[in-house]
Amino acid sequence: MPNQKLSVVVTRRLPEVVETRMSELFNVQLREDDSPMSGPELVQAVREAEVLVPTLSDQIDAGLLGQAGEQLKLIANYGAGVDHIDVQTARQRGILVSNTPGVLTEDTADMTLALILAVTRRIPEGLALMQSGAWEGWSPTALLGGRIAGRRLGILGMGRIGQAVARRARVFGMQIHYHNRKRVHAGIEEELEATYWDSLDQMIARMDVVSVNCPHTPSTYHLMNARRLKLMKPSAVIVNTSRGEVIDENALTRMLRAGELAGAGLDVFEHGTQVNPRLRELPNVVLLPHMGSATEEGRVEMGEKVLLNIKTFDDGHRPPDQVVPGML
Ligand code: DGY
Repeated sequence: MPNQKLSVVVTRRLPEVVETRMSELFNVQLREDDSPMSGPELVQAVREAEVLVPTLSDQIDAGLLGQAGEQLKLIANYGAGVDHIDVQTARQRGILVSNTPGVLTEDTADMTLALILAVTRRIPEGLALMQSGAWEGWSPTALLGGRIAGRRLGILGMGRIGQAVARRARVFGMQIHYHNRKRVHAGIEEELEATYWDSLDQMIARMDVVSVNCPHTPSTYHLMNARRLKLMKPSAVIVNTSRGEVIDENALTRMLRAGELAGAGLDVFEHGTQVNPRLRELPNVVLLPHMGSATEEGRVEMGEKVLLNIKTFDDGHRPPDQVVPGML
């Protein structure tokens, strides 16, 4: 008799090719529209599924996990960040957690550079001028930005994405500096000509551009708080393609409005879609709707990782991208 297929519940629409493969391999319940699941829908999902495939828009906290049935054995997150999952409680309840690292690296690094360029070279202001039809032709003094070659880039979090940002920024002629929990291998520092700063305070006080590339964890929450933001040079720019919670968004907004910082490029926000309305009014701020990893290729590769994690688990092994508490 053939084994029963694993029951899998997916909380959001995924690329068609991924959904098709999931349906072939597992007894899968797919989402019909692209809205996030409601609270009661999530409760039902954890009561029924052996494997839950959530995304960052689902809060998988202790309260929800407390309502999970005994059958829930794996949370195969569609995404790299797992700050929306209480990995510790999951572990205590014998539920494995996996994510999709690696496949978002290049796309997120591209978007980081795009934000650095957009803010420093005032691209949205130029675009708005063209779209308004008010452009009156070239002028020696109009829309002057800054040259990024020669600027000091301070990368906060030198993991895969931080390194990919550094590689790109080097090509643009930026000088690479970084702060990380652990100093990276000497060979990587050499390749990137990167300077390590043990003290985050000292690094950010000297940078022209600060890029946030660390995950959001209890120890990185508001790492860029009001005190630290004030250490930055008034001519400096900050970009964030990681998680909004790493920066105190209200403090940042106040400083930008007061002209105490030159600009910001943000793809992520402290309170999700509840973006500080004052940020939206500022000409020196570029806001994007969390699209750092939004490429066709990346989304399919994320799905392939999820499939591999579930399949490996189904075959009786540990998922290759298992996340353990405190790992990120
Ligand atoms: C992730 O996977 O955590 C990313 O933030 C999605 O863009």
